[in-house]
Amino acid sequence: MIAAAPVPASAAPCTGVVVVAAGSGTRLGAGAPKAFVELAGEPLLAHALRSLLALPGRVAVAVAVPAGDAARRATAEALVAGELAPLGDRLVASACVDGGASRTASVAAGLAALPDECDAVLVHDAARALAPAGLVAEVAGAVRATGAGVVPALPVVDTLKRVDAAGGVLGTADRDGLRAVQTPQGFPAAGLRAAYAAAADEATDDAGTFAAHGGAVTTIAGDPLAFKVTTPADLAQAERLLAERRAGGMGASGGAGLRVGVGTDAHAFDDVSPCWLAGLHFPGERGLSGHSDGDTASHALVDALLGAAGLGDIGSRFGTDDPRYANASGETFLAATREILAEAGFRIRSASVQVIARRPRFGERLAEAAETLTAVVGAPVSVSATTTDGLGFTGRTEGVAAVAVALVEG
Ligand code: CTP
Ligand code: MG
Repeated sequence: MIAAAPVPASAAPCTGVVVVAAGSGTRLGAGAPKAFVELAGEPLLAHALRSLLALPGRVAVAVAVPAGDAARRATAEALVAGELAPLGDRLVASACVDGGASRTASVAAGLAALPDECDAVLVHDAARALAPAGLVAEVAGAVRATGAGVVPALPVVDTLKRVDAAGGVLGTADRDGLRAVQTPQGFPAAGLRAAYAAAADEATDDAGTFAAHGGAVTTIAGDPLAFKVTTPADLAQAERLLAERRAGGMGASGGAGLRVGVGTDAHAFDDVSPCWLAGLHFPGERGLSGHSDGDTASHALVDALLGAAGLGDIGSRFGTDDPRYANASGETFLAATREILAEAGFRIRSASVQVIARRPRFGERLAEAAETLTAVVGAPVSVSATTTDGLGFTGRTEGVAAVAVALVEG
């Protein structure tokens, strides 16, 4: 069995998030600090906070607000309480603190307000109000998977020229090796704290500060929706994207690049296998037979994801004659599927899986299952369970079935 034992909720790692919202918004020129300027009737900060909701496990948040502005601090506190309420007990700490004169100083102030127990820290610009929740979860997952700093990055599309002070062209930069980076940027907490403690210069991003202190930084695919609202044209663009989304589209792609997939799976009980379902171990329950660990929920999810992207299915991708997948865990298949989609240029937006079973008793572990699958998939996964009123093979407790849907963009 490849899968590790499930981590008990109480020992779940804690992701710290610093949201920097202390800038003045000079270029936007909207007469208020940028994070408090409204987009579709809500402050940019409200939108940015909402993107933290897909983070798995425990979360701590520190928002850097304009120093000495009691009214805006109160607004920020209300937004944190309202927008992050769905995290429930998983929100272990939150604070709104005075930012500094520079972004670097604001990040440092936020970092100081996060609890020591955070093992990974994300730093996010409130101005990137439409950064997708899936991107935020993906950055956090990549920090834990790699132990490195992680930045979302996009290829540079324009030709880049070096110029002198008078605007004369000196040469063309090779854009192949260049990327435009976004936030959230994620880091191992201890390394980021040490880098900020030692920071002498202002860096334009956190990865710069982290790297200046010797930290390794890697990139993941960025998202056009994570653009920074800087000018009035950016705000108008964000308004249009949200209006489109509310009208049934889904943002930068206008919905055109969105695809759904469906997956189903079933396995019979046997008397020799341990019971794994939705990435969780159920001690003392009869397990599910199969070439792998029989995790029907994960397998249905794999089929939904591959199907949405038009990339085949679990059988065609992970053949039963491939020794790498003998006894493989559901998480192994899901992690490999995530890579297959990423390599093919698809971003997973969300997924939902329903387990159809009388046993194991699944109800009280739904949240844990959703957290586990969300972490592996790198996008929000919801989990539900049902029975069939005694009908069929699940009703006779002969096995477990699952059905999943996934939404991907590419
Ligand atoms: N920021 C901050 N503290 C500062 C400066 C910036 O917290 N002293 C935050 C901003 O609130 C924003 C992010 O850093 O969320 C990115 O900065 P930028 O886009 O430059 O925002 P502003 O500084 O507000 O805008 P401008 O430079 O046009 O004044
Ligand atoms: Mg600025």
